[in-house]
Amino acid sequence: MKYLLIFLPLLLWSQEDFISHYEYGEMLYANPRGVSCSECHGKSGEGTTIVEYRDIHGKQSLKGSDIRQKSLKEMIHAVNAYHEVMPRYYLTDQEVQAIYDYLKVKNSTK
Ligand code: HEC
Repeated sequence: MKYLLIFLPLLLWSQEDFISHYEYGEMLYANPRGVSCSECHGKSGEGTTIVEYRDIHGKQSLKGSDIRQKSLKEMIHAVNAYHEVMPRYYLTDQEVQAIYDYLKVKNSTK
């Protein structure tokens, strides 16, 4: 226990940069000043079903795409563009970069 108390601050300090950038991206992905990305693209960007409904063609579903393989450039473009379903966001390139990095790290540790 004593051992842990001595080394924990060191450990936290040495990883501070990495953790804060990751957490920043995590925070932005969950709360990008608007509807959360995870509502439509899932917890890790893998995509998810937004809504299911029925029409004359039967059961339909609206899905948010898998964005794990998107490039940073595509992500910046997507966030700043108008879409039919996805809202437009007002995030800086740095903020989109943080989201992008967050998804990269999150999906590389599985
Ligand atoms: C209301 C649901 C919704 C939300 C919220 C949402 N998206 Fe999307 N997103 C979509 C859908 C649906 C598409 C597929 C294109 C379309 O029809 O709008 C898409 C497409 C994309 C694409 C791919 C564009 C391409 O090149 O194919 C990226 C990248 C993306 N979204 C990132 C994000 C990020 C980052 C956020 C949060 C800041 C976000 N999305 C929030 C629904 C959503």
